[in-house]
Amino acid sequence: MPAAIIDGKAIAAQIRVALGSEVAEFSGQTGVTPHLAAVLVGDDPASAVYVRNKQRACDKAGIKSTLHRLSAETTQAELLELIEQLNNANDVHGILCQLPLPQQINELAILDAISPLKDVDAFHPENVGLIVQGRPRFLPCTPHGVQQLLVESAAEIEGANVVVLGRSEIVGKPMALMLVQKGKAANATVTICHSRTKGLAEITRTADILIAAIGRANFVTGDMIKPGATVIDVGINRVDDKLVGDVDFAAASEVAAAITPVPGGVGPMTIAMLLKNTVAAARIAANA
Ligand code: GUN
Repeated sequence: MPAAIIDGKAIAAQIRVALGSEVAEFSGQTGVTPHLAAVLVGDDPASAVYVRNKQRACDKAGIKSTLHRLSAETTQAELLELIEQLNNANDVHGILCQLPLPQQINELAILDAISPLKDVDAFHPENVGLIVQGRPRFLPCTPHGVQQLLVESAAEIEGANVVVLGRSEIVGKPMALMLVQKGKAANATVTICHSRTKGLAEITRTADILIAAIGRANFVTGDMIKPGATVIDVGINRVDDKLVGDVDFAAASEVAAAITPVPGGVGPMTIAMLLKNTVAAARIAANA
């Protein structure tokens, strides 16, 4: 039987509708409209699309969003000045600086400068530290989206062997940390694999839940998957003008019990979780 498709688009839509009601209630009680400030530096077309999609989702959920668009020649000092203004703006609750940044700008210097209380990406070291300690303020959007997909698809996480392919700061590392924590939708036995891992296929075949986040098109082949596994594909790779994931979807579908498509899997969930964090940031600011 081919794998069940985990429909991230539909699950994210449900979450966004619930969030819209939460925003309406919050705004009614406090008079505050949650506000996300998005910062886009340079002309990367993919980044422009991602930011536009995030803003559209904000609009639909009743969250205000503003876009700060800067040229590709922007200096680090100029960007730091904008971040400082947004940190100090009382009506701005979340700040999202879309990555990657142009090469003259040190990304870590920018991410470190965003107020941890407005850091809706959960990239600031203070927020990462809180995640490590199992007392998160914000959860990073993509790993949180993956965790929600696992919950919604009724995957057994507790005690499961989870293999995370990829050790990025945005996905792989926080994903592993979240699933190994004590608590709900966690308590897994987690292995992180990366480009230097030896005997990769042997390890991935132990995974009850396989999360691919390595950024290489169709990297995970059918023989790397345990029969009956749940496969989550975080990859978004452009091949011949088509978007494909890190997993060979057709081959994986023959082996796995459940799998996310690309597009329509993890991507919409990332945006839904960003909205959640923006509302959480507004609650922090309003003490509500
Ligand atoms: N670029 C790719 N993914 C992300 C993300 O989750 N947040 C930001 N800020 N930039 C990104």
